[in-house]
Amino acid sequence: MSTISIATATEVFDLLKDDLAAIEVEFARQADSPVAVVTDIANYLIAGGGKRIRPLLLLLSAKALHCESDARIRLGAVVEMLHTATLVHDDIIDEANTRRGRPSSNTTWGNAKCVLAGDWLYMQAFQTALAERNFRILDLLISLTQEMVEGELLQMEKLGHLINEEEYFDLIYRKTACLFKVSMQLGAVVANPSAREGERPFEDALGEYGRNLGLAFQIVDDVLDLTANDEILGKPAASDLREGKATLAVIHALERGTGADREAIRTVLADRSFVRVAHADILEILQRHGSLAYAMDTACAYAEAARQSITDLPESDYKRALLWVPGFVTSRDR
Ligand code: IPE
Ligand code: IPE
Ligand code: MG
Ligand code: MG
Repeated sequence: MSTISIATATEVFDLLKDDLAAIEVEFARQADSPVAVVTDIANYLIAGGGKRIRPLLLLLSAKALHCESDARIRLGAVVEMLHTATLVHDDIIDEANTRRGRPSSNTTWGNAKCVLAGDWLYMQAFQTALAERNFRILDLLISLTQEMVEGELLQMEKLGHLINEEEYFDLIYRKTACLFKVSMQLGAVVANPSAREGERPFEDALGEYGRNLGLAFQIVDDVLDLTANDEILGKPAASDLREGKATLAVIHALERGTGADREAIRTVLADRSFVRVAHADILEILQRHGSLAYAMDTACAYAEAARQSITDLPESDYKRALLWVPGFVTSRDR
């Protein structure tokens, strides 16, 4: 039984502040294109802030395995760049008008330019990753990108329909948890770049941590979409139902609700609007069946599973920080 303690937010930030600052510089460097509109869109998104959780995970994973190489900075910027590209495309697909508390890039530059800027960001991330001359890195990033795009496409096919939990978990793995997992695995790769395939210490355990944490992260994102407001979230709230997306709490209520409850939820999903059934009515249904609590309990169980995944990792300040992240993910408000 381990007695290792969990770090605090301040300790985690102190531990990583130099590396996180270096990643910001690297990200801005990578976003520099001869075509101004690309750089403008990228810089606009960087300046909007964001939690930077994916580079943070990559750094903690690499440092927990004693990585000293600058590859951790370059790849930290790569995962944030990929994330940024998915946000640019996601806001076009979801027709969202705000992101990170500001007008979304599609609102400012229009869909056509943003599709291309997103493509450019993807390719720039691959270009930077290619410079490491490591096939494992490319393998992870290419599979990841395909999983994410497949996830968006599968989600589109299911819009407006009732899905079950299994389908929900498959979707959130692809759209979110996969990038968390790969961020952790990349940390293990840069810590041991020349290890043979399948023989990299802790790659599987750290990847499993990332997968569990990423599932918790998206479940919380989906709960916040139902319960938070636009100002705190910095992006449109209550948008999933308006987009026809059934998320975990809604799936739970659909399985337990009365005929009238199910009908109300079906109506919103089919209409993709709250014109016939109000948002407050849906929240009342979710509360009455304990569906929001169920979703949060599920997120907390995945957060705990993330902690359990790294039991065998040698003790260090970085491991203590990795034990802090799951609690941050489940208690965040945006
Ligand atoms: C938003 O990710 C997209 C999801 C996977 C839910 P984040 O919540 O990490 O967004 P930023 O980077 O902090 O803005
Ligand atoms: C996040 O899905 C998946 C991405 C890969 C961007 P959402 O559509 O729930 O993300 P937000 O809520 O717009 O950030
Ligand atoms: Mg979205
Ligand atoms: Mg969301």
